[in-house]
Amino acid sequence: MEELEPSELGTQEYWNTRYSKEIEDFSNHGDPGEIWFGEDIVDRVIRWMNKSDLIKKDSKLVDVGCGNGMLLVELANDGYTDLTGIDYSDKAVELSKKIAEKQNLNIKFFNYNVLESIPDSYQIFHDKGTYDAISLSENSKENRLKYIENISGSLSDGGILIITSCNWTQSELNEQFHEKFNLLSIIPTPQFKFGGKVGNVVTSCVYQKK
Ligand SMILES: C[S@@+](CC[C@H](N)C(=O)[O-])C[C@H]1O[C@@H](n2cnc3c(N)ncnc32)[C@H](O)[C@@H]1O
Repeated sequence: MEELEPSELGTQEYWNTRYSKEIEDFSNHGDPGEIWFGEDIVDRVIRWMNKSDLIKKDSKLVDVGCGNGMLLVELANDGYTDLTGIDYSDKAVELSKKIAEKQNLNIKFFNYNVLESIPDSYQIFHDKGTYDAISLSENSKENRLKYIENISGSLSDGGILIITSCNWTQSELNEQFHEKFNLLSIIPTPQFKFGGKVGNVVTSCVYQKK
């Protein structure tokens, strides 16, 4: 399996610049910024969570690389109570705090690099687009392996990882995560047809820590 070509999306500078602009937009127009992969994916993930026996409204959940924190805002509005967002961009943390405060939501946000440390343990990890961004960094293989090790290290026993990716297929994700995780479920995502073949634009997989 080949690594992806590094791109600016794999750098902290890119995200700081981007979220600085989004802070301005939020202050000026109340626009929270981009919902990566669209709102439909967020709805599908939350619907899956609501149906799962393994997830409770008070399960301790962290959104890794939370960006503007909108997934957590949706979860809080849906009744989830123990929510944390972490991001290595201090601008993302600033933006997500502002958005959650404006809605009086009780969500914790921290400025952490998932490749360095996650100083707490969680029952659920959610990732939408962060493993993708890490896969576009320099030394991507090393960073991907570190990500998998750190996430599995701070998941409690039997904990769940919900990951949505546009860069890796289901089978590529399985290959990358299988040593530490069992595939539990695939959240259906919209499909497109190209050259007679049916493919997915994004992949959402749910894994359970071994
Ligand atoms: C494609 S964006 C997705 C943001 C958010 N999850 C969403 O769906 O809107 C990728 C996010 O991952 C964050 N990120 C990338 N590498 C990270 C790392 N090593 N530790 C923590 N956050 C990281 C970026 O700052 C950015 O907010």
